[in-house]
Amino acid sequence: METKIWSVDKNVDNVQSYPQITEPAQLLQAGQVVAFPTETVYGLGANAKSDEAVKKVFEAKGRPSDNPLIVHIASEGQLEEIVEDIPDKARRLMDEFWPGPLTLILKHKPGKLSNLVTAGLNTVGIRMPDHQVALGIIRASNLPIAAPSANTSGKPSPTSAKHVEVDLFGRIAGIVDGGATGVGVESTVLDCTVEVPVILRPGGVTLEQLEAVVGEVQQDVALKNQETAPKAPGMKYTHYAPKAPLYVVKGHPAFLQRIADEQRSEGFKVGIMAAREHESEYSADHMVIPGSLADLHTVATGLYDALRQFDEVDVDIILSESFPESGIGAAVMNRLEKAAGHQIIDEKHV
Ligand code: TXA
Ligand code: MG
Repeated sequence: METKIWSVDKNVDNVQSYPQITEPAQLLQAGQVVAFPTETVYGLGANAKSDEAVKKVFEAKGRPSDNPLIVHIASEGQLEEIVEDIPDKARRLMDEFWPGPLTLILKHKPGKLSNLVTAGLNTVGIRMPDHQVALGIIRASNLPIAAPSANTSGKPSPTSAKHVEVDLFGRIAGIVDGGATGVGVESTVLDCTVEVPVILRPGGVTLEQLEAVVGEVQQDVALKNQETAPKAPGMKYTHYAPKAPLYVVKGHPAFLQRIADEQRSEGFKVGIMAAREHESEYSADHMVIPGSLADLHTVATGLYDALRQFDEVDVDIILSESFPESGIGAAVMNRLEKAAGHQIIDEKHV
């Protein structure tokens, strides 16, 4: 399949009339799938009302069909069309965080969306992205747009158009290149169908931020307990994984370096992922620095590109530092531990 590529500056206003926006919007109306940037990661969009279109998303990604997609909207009017009723807490969260990296799980009206989008559930995840290109395309198409992250299933989510090309070129109708995304990890998925909202996937909006608006917020116990089935079907799959085995190391840099030295003495090529502040404490065959401890948002922004960099070099094993779990660090560590298939080496336990 021919994959058309457009480039657009995300900082310009009134993108709506640009051919880089209207052409992909027309393809979406015609039932094709197109990748576009959001403030979190690149999404792979399709008309959320069309079975045919949504089927192409699952095919292109190789995504299991029991994993529902997030619906992206550009106005509250679109929301009213899709969902049954909007609880007061959800309303307040929308007012505070939309457009932005927060997906709200709400009950949907029957018959308004393809059943493939919701994987047959009576709920749907909805968000309004904080990105001019994404909003422009949704408005120009005049459709609710179902969009999972635009990666091959199992790989790290794409934070640049280049990442999308590596995974999906030739498999989708188009890619809109709007430069690097900002947040770097996906949206927070919050179940708002229950009295006390539950975080099903930590992400761009933190627990602390949510609680400041609506009081108590719980976290799906399955996020911390491997034995329990997660409420967001997507969270049960191995995900975000580089090709070489990855271990998350908890402890001092000297402890991580000792493991690296042991591996290297056995002839293995070792990759290390560490915070900027610790760079000089390590020696490895390949070092990647996603960001700085001084601002964990930089680690979130750089995380997926860092994981993908290891796929471009010849390493046999990757050792990553762990990061503090406060604020955006919760999402960083959730993704990192999933990327490692929960293989964690803790200095305290050896
Ligand atoms: O930042 C993001 O959210 C990105 C950008 C493109 O918007 N999208 C994204 O979509 O990460 P995806 O499909 O890769 O992840 C959607 C997550 C999955 O874990 C899925 O199981 C969960 O949301 N989800 C979607 N609908 C749900 C529902 N009705 N109930 C529970 N979980 C749901
Ligand atoms: Mg994804």
